[in-house]
Amino acid sequence: MKSAFAAVVAAHLAGVNAAPIETSDASESSATSSASTFSLGQIQNDAFAPIDGPSAMIRAHMKYAGKLPDSLTNAIEINPTLNERFHMFLPQEEDKQTGSAVAYPAPWYDTEYVVPVKIGTPPQVTYLNLDTGSSDFWAFTTDTYQPTVFGQVLYDPEASNTSHRLNGQSWSIRYGDGAYAAGIVYKDRVRVGGASVDDQAVQSAIQVSSSISQDSFSSGIIGMARTNGNTVRPDPQKTFLENVLPSLEDRVFTSNLQKGRPGNYDFGYINKTQYTGDIHYLDARKNSTFWHIDVPGYQVGKNGTQQNTTWNSIVDTGTTLLLVPSSIVNAYYTQVSGAGWDMFTGMIIFPCESDLPDFYFTIGPHKGRVPGSYINYGNVDPTYCFGGIQSSEGIPFAVMGDVLLKAQFVVFDSGENRVGFANKPVVE
Ligand SMILES: *[C@@H]1O[C@H](CO)[C@@H](O)[C@H](O)[C@H]1NC(C)=O
Ligand SMILES: *[C@@H]1O[C@H](CO)[C@@H](O)[C@H](O)[C@H]1NC(C)=O
Ligand SMILES: *[C@@H]1O[C@H](CO)[C@@H](O)[C@H](O)[C@H]1NC(C)=O
Ligand SMILES: *[C@@H]1O[C@H](CO)[C@@H](O)[C@H](O)[C@H]1NC(C)=O
Ligand SMILES: *[C@@H]1O[C@H](CO)[C@@H](O)[C@H](O)[C@H]1NC(C)=O
Repeated sequence: MKSAFAAVVAAHLAGVNAAPIETSDASESSATSSASTFSLGQIQNDAFAPIDGPSAMIRAHMKYAGKLPDSLTNAIEINPTLNERFHMFLPQEEDKQTGSAVAYPAPWYDTEYVVPVKIGTPPQVTYLNLDTGSSDFWAFTTDTYQPTVFGQVLYDPEASNTSHRLNGQSWSIRYGDGAYAAGIVYKDRVRVGGASVDDQAVQSAIQVSSSISQDSFSSGIIGMARTNGNTVRPDPQKTFLENVLPSLEDRVFTSNLQKGRPGNYDFGYINKTQYTGDIHYLDARKNSTFWHIDVPGYQVGKNGTQQNTTWNSIVDTGTTLLLVPSSIVNAYYTQVSGAGWDMFTGMIIFPCESDLPDFYFTIGPHKGRVPGSYINYGNVDPTYCFGGIQSSEGIPFAVMGDVLLKAQFVVFDSGENRVGFANKPVVE
């Protein structure tokens, strides 16, 4: 039976970037260097970062590259706070086996948006992170090793009369820093918004590493990338998305994430009241596990010149930052007075009072807008702020994470294998 339904699901901001600092109306930066040759200066920042900008950056790089660019490696070497937490990322011979194991990881504990999900009969409500950048549906459960549970909701398969164990199947996701989640597999009824799948593989976490267990905000992941990224062995399992598609009126889901407040995901239809103008589509690469597109151009600032150079990117609700090629990073921060690379965090930072220009990704004449204020990722110290746009150097694609997605209405169109973008009213 076909059904259109709204999974109008609460989406919440996690703690790390809950209170970005608004920039003041200081006069426009007058920097005018050429984008292609501009090289960011280095800033001496004596305070070590109290907020988690570097870990958002490090996690994105480990998720998709399995190793870090030199700027981050250097920051871990010289910054004691980062060194304590991330020294295992420093190049070492023994780390080789873990570095290659990050092909299809789930997101990290500080990814932002969770949705209420009902598992089993009668339904048990839990809160899972909807991640378009991974392919496993996994949850904290009554199987999870109890000392690693810190307030997460636990799905209890024994309390569901529609659950059954998939004998002989297991799963394991391992990260470059030794973080991991692993366990066994059930099938059960799963409901997200109004959408039901009777036989969803629910991957039960038996072991989770401390970095995952410390996040009580999320009790697991709904991976919405392609099934070929699923980690269940010996038989990879279908994603929730693949299972639910046949029952949808239109084979789409949409994201309407918001800055600092609940947004929504809708499945099976496009709600025309949630965006302005037209939706502009880009074909998704058929050969990728991800929602992977080729973006025809970009522009920095409302009055900037549109650059028609293609950059390829995945669209990932499970990544916090907007990671783009260095040439675009340079073109952007050339326009931000005082911006530069901070050796202690390995990230681009800028004086918080500097004006941030809007960033646009372009599709022909269409300009997808990310307001400048969304590119302030919060304070490094009282003077400097982290840039929400950072380099994708070392990762084989750019990553359109939540910094961009919060400013857009996005259509994940499985039927036509494409991703659509529209602007929408945004709170700046
Ligand atoms: C399963 O649980 C539901 C809800 O509690 C109940 O209505 C149903 O009768 C149960 N089915 C079986 C086979 O026990
Ligand atoms: C469409 O979105 C608007 C605004 O978010 C909401 O009020 C309305 O209920 C939605 N309509 C449907 C059919 O979901
Ligand atoms: C996947 O397809 C894109 C074009 O859609 C192409 O540029 C890329 O090289 C392909 N990658 C592989 C691994 O085949
Ligand atoms: C863009 O140009 C217009 C007209 O010259 C000007 O009024 C406006 O302030 C400019 N905006 C920015 C962000 O520079
Ligand atoms: C890029 O394309 C747009 C139209 O799609 C055009 O207006 C603009 O001038 C082009 N930019 C350059 C630098 O050629």
